[in-house]
Amino acid sequence: MEKILVRGGSKLHGSVEISGMKNAALPVIMAAMLVPDECIIENLPAIDDVATSLEILRRMGADVTMLTKTSVKVNAKNFRPGESEFDLVKRIRASYYLLGAELGRFGRANVGYPGGCDFGSRPIDQHIKGFEALGAKVDVEGGYIIATTSSPLVGKKIHLDGIPSVGATVNIMLAAVMAQGTTTIENAAREPHIVDLANFLNTCGADISGAGTSTVRIRGVKQLHGCTYSIIPDMIEAGTYMIAAAAAGGSVTVTNLIPKHMEAVTAKLIEMGVGIEEGDDWIKVERTDKLKKVNVKTMPYPGFPTDVHPQMSVLLCLSEGVSFMTESVFDNRFRYIDELRRMGADVKVDGKTAIFEEIEGLSGAKVTAVDLRGGAAVIIAGLTAAGVTEVDNIQLIERGYDDIVQKLKDIGADISKKVTPEPEALPKAN
Ligand code: UD1
Repeated sequence: MEKILVRGGSKLHGSVEISGMKNAALPVIMAAMLVPDECIIENLPAIDDVATSLEILRRMGADVTMLTKTSVKVNAKNFRPGESEFDLVKRIRASYYLLGAELGRFGRANVGYPGGCDFGSRPIDQHIKGFEALGAKVDVEGGYIIATTSSPLVGKKIHLDGIPSVGATVNIMLAAVMAQGTTTIENAAREPHIVDLANFLNTCGADISGAGTSTVRIRGVKQLHGCTYSIIPDMIEAGTYMIAAAAAGGSVTVTNLIPKHMEAVTAKLIEMGVGIEEGDDWIKVERTDKLKKVNVKTMPYPGFPTDVHPQMSVLLCLSEGVSFMTESVFDNRFRYIDELRRMGADVKVDGKTAIFEEIEGLSGAKVTAVDLRGGAAVIIAGLTAAGVTEVDNIQLIERGYDDIVQKLKDIGADISKKVTPEPEALPKAN
């Protein structure tokens, strides 16, 4: 069993380079399945979710060759639609993009119910509504989602309900890209990864406009062709390192990011008294003083990202006075709070809001990565804590962070990975 050990107290200095964005790379990899030709995808993050996505495509007949650690050649000419391997698809959320992609290319899909982080219930009713509007029949049977159509999909106007769903927007784009006529998604998600997916598909010959606004228009094309495409930088990884620097103190330049994508995070750090300097593709974060209290509410892009919520909460633990974190995207994203409590956080959860009282400081403890970003949060907490923090369940962190241990070490953190024996099973009670 691997663990991450963090000894708190070292200030961070230097620069850290951001990798390609997980939540753009995964839909682009699945979108490559729509193309019966060679696609080269560059600037991929070296993370487990990317490896799992590529393995799913490979096992379904695509030719997948890693060219470097961060670029891959995918040729899906021989991709065979059919039952995807349950063990692989349940590891990641993004496996449900196979549904839209297979439906778009073959008119049928059969995909195991996806996995991903546990934030309470994560329904897929909006995905299904979109597929049905395009003319597919969708059934859920034995843990599989089965979508079929006997005639070509036909473009429609689809109004997504509720919080604009990233997953539903992506899936409908994938299904509609070769449908007959025009599909319009209203109340579409506006995240930068939606724009990245549209750019990839358009480079392959698709006709998509409006990505990045709440109305995305997809005019169906007959066929897609191969291309070479580079994934945008990961705004969530960038936010994680910006917050790590603000928590631990010191001065860190986070490079290879898009400052525009970071505005919601940057604004909150400035409100807390953190020094921020920006260039074309970098942000320097400097913290010398006590953090001021702040209230944060997660919202779809361009609001404060839910995927930066747990990391930001560490700063709220450390701020003067009382700070509030309201989660408005997911039902239950507070499972990491118990881990912060083990480290001395004084926090109450009331419905969708966590209330952080001022404390002297955190102290090292044995904690668990309850999910991907919750895992990043306890590492950041460990950077500031007195003594050693031992984080287990780190495979959840490695699903989405490209070498977080080395990147933090390179900016001065006292952090390492340790292999420890599996705990002995407890004797069975009589
Ligand atoms: C994606 C990201 C995840 C991020 C989230 C929000 C990937 C692989 N994952 O997840 O990291 O936290 O966007 O930015 O890109 N909903 C429904 N019905 C649906 C679909 C969603 O009610 O059919 C609800 C969800 O429960 C949630 C909200 O809509 O409350 C937003 O979810 P969504 O944007 O779809 O998240 P994911 O695509 O699963």
